[in-house]
Amino acid sequence: MSMEHRQPAARAAAPVAPVAPVAPAAPADDEVLERLWRERYSCRAFLPDPVPRETITRLLTLAQRTASWCNSQPWQLAILSGAALERFRTALYAHVAAQAEGASDFPFPREYQGSALARRRESGFQLYDTLKIVRGDKAAYRQQMLENFRLFGAPHVAIITSDEALGVYGAVDCGAYVSSFLLAAQALGVATIAQAALAGYAGFVKAHLGLGPDRSMVCGISFGYADRAHPVNSYRTSRAAVTEAATFLEN
Ligand SMILES: Cc1cc2nc3c(=O)[nH]c(=O)nc-3n(C[C@H](O)[C@H](O)[C@H](O)COP(=O)(O)O)c2cc1C
Repeated sequence: MSMEHRQPAARAAAPVAPVAPVAPAAPADDEVLERLWRERYSCRAFLPDPVPRETITRLLTLAQRTASWCNSQPWQLAILSGAALERFRTALYAHVAAQAEGASDFPFPREYQGSALARRRESGFQLYDTLKIVRGDKAAYRQQMLENFRLFGAPHVAIITSDEALGVYGAVDCGAYVSSFLLAAQALGVATIAQAALAGYAGFVKAHLGLGPDRSMVCGISFGYADRAHPVNSYRTSRAAVTEAATFLEN
C-alpha cells in the first residue's frame, strides 16, 4: 500500500464547533511564593478601613501552620481593633511621647556592625529621603520614629508574645510566625509592618493588655490596607545576593 499522503477529498464546510477556552497554566508554587515575597513591603501609612474579621481569621489560620521547636507554638496574639485599638494607640503614644523610659523583654541589638550597619543605614536613608527628611534633622527623625506608636494609622495591631520560659527559642519560633503572618497577609491583600519599636515598651504594653511576666513580648504587627498614595509606601528595600548569605560546604 502506497504511503503517499493523499489530500482528503473536499468536504462540505462543517459547522465550526466552539473552541473551549484553554485555562492559562497556573504559575508554579515557587513563582507564587516569589511574587508574594517581592510584592510585600513594610507599610508605614494605612487607610483607616478595617479588615473584615473573616479575612483576619483566614490570615491567622494560615500563619498557624508555622513550624516551631517541639511544635511548642509559643506565639500568643492580642489583636486590637476598633475602640480597644484607639485606647491603646492613644495611651501608648502619650506614654512614649512623654519621653518615658522604655524596657524590652528581649534585649535589643547591642550594636549594628559591618553589613548590618550598612543595611540599616541604607534602609533608614531610603525612608528619610522618601519623606524628604534632611539628613541629620533629629527632630524630624524623632517625629517619624513616633509614627510607630501611632501604629502608622493602622486599623489593627497584633501584639505577639512568647512563653517566657522558652527564652530565645520561643523568640525564634515567634519570629518565624511573624514571617508567616506577613506572607499570609500579603496573599490576602493585607498590608503589614512588624514593629519591634512596640516591644521597646513591653512593660507598658503588657500592663495595658493585662499580661503577666510569664509572657515575653516579641513585637507588634500593625496591619490593614495600604495607603498607596502616601510616599512612605513608595520605596522598596534591597536584599543581598544568596552568595552573601549562604556558604556551600561540600568536600
Ligand atoms: C521583627 C521586625 C521588627 C521590625 N520593627 C520595626 C519597627 O519597629 N519600626 C519600623 O518602622 N520597621 C520595623 N520593621 C521593618 C523593617 O525595617 C523592614 O522589614 C526592613 O527594613 C525591610 O524592609 P521591607 O519590610 O519593606 O522589605 C521590623 C521588621 C521586623 C521583621
